Amino acid sequence: MEVIILPTREKANLLAAKLIAKELRAKPHLVLGLATGRTMERLYHLLGDLYRENTLDFSLCRTFNLDEYIGLPPANPYSYRHYMNEHLFHRVNIDLRNTHLPDGMAADLEAACRHYEAMIAECGGIDLQLLGIGADGHIGFNEPLSALRSRTRPKALTPGTIQQNAPLCGGEANMPKRAITMGVGTILEAKHCLMLVTGGSKAKVLAQAVEGPITSMVTASALQLHPHCRVIVDAKAGAELQGKDYYNWIFRNEPEWAEYQELWEE
Ligand code: F6R
Repeated sequence: MEVIILPTREKANLLAAKLIAKELRAKPHLVLGLATGRTMERLYHLLGDLYRENTLDFSLCRTFNLDEYIGLPPANPYSYRHYMNEHLFHRVNIDLRNTHLPDGMAADLEAACRHYEAMIAECGGIDLQLLGIGADGHIGFNEPLSALRSRTRPKALTPGTIQQNAPLCGGEANMPKRAITMGVGTILEAKHCLMLVTGGSKAKVLAQAVEGPITSMVTASALQLHPHCRVIVDAKAGAELQGKDYYNWIFRNEPEWAEYQELWEE
């Protein structure tokens, strides 16, 4: 795992956008795993800017989202399909037929989950999986005690997650209580993982995930097992990391980060 701490939220977003753009330019058929939530909004808008500046082409890119609420049709403004269309897909030249989210409206949810895993496998697996972290340490909707080898499945959300996401759904009354999510095992199979974490409210759980024990109580901690996982954070989210000085030293000195040094300056 590599942790890169940048001074501001904007710079953390810029680095994440640059890393995604680099992978997409290197492999136009990239299979991109996507996340939703507040953290990702600015990042998706930055990717939209790169497309408008003619420096990024999504025409061959294929995407799989981590999760979707159960019971919200795609046209529902609180569905993750709607979120993705609004924040990314309608801003770039992606072919919507190449964009996939779990089918939270399926009559047979288990079959829909198996189908989702099969589609990912048919595409050759996810090249780059983008992740945020929930207040309880979840990735996707893998709430505490999710098996670290879990696969795509329906999952009950915790009261804390319902509270966390209710404002995005126009209040708790509209907020679904269940979702389909890729499993932790599914996520760990991505070739590369990129977790973006910003804001002081995530500082404690981020430190648990990155420097604490691997535990199903904080499913993001399973990323410690991943051979190629980058965690990009702003200074506020990184405030409780014990190894800050070492992570900063790596970013300042390792050749792979040389081209991004301008982001370091405040
Ligand atoms: C959503 C997802 C979640 C979010 C997490 C953080 O697709 O995968 O794990 O990344 O709940 O959400 P925000 O960014 O709203 O704090």
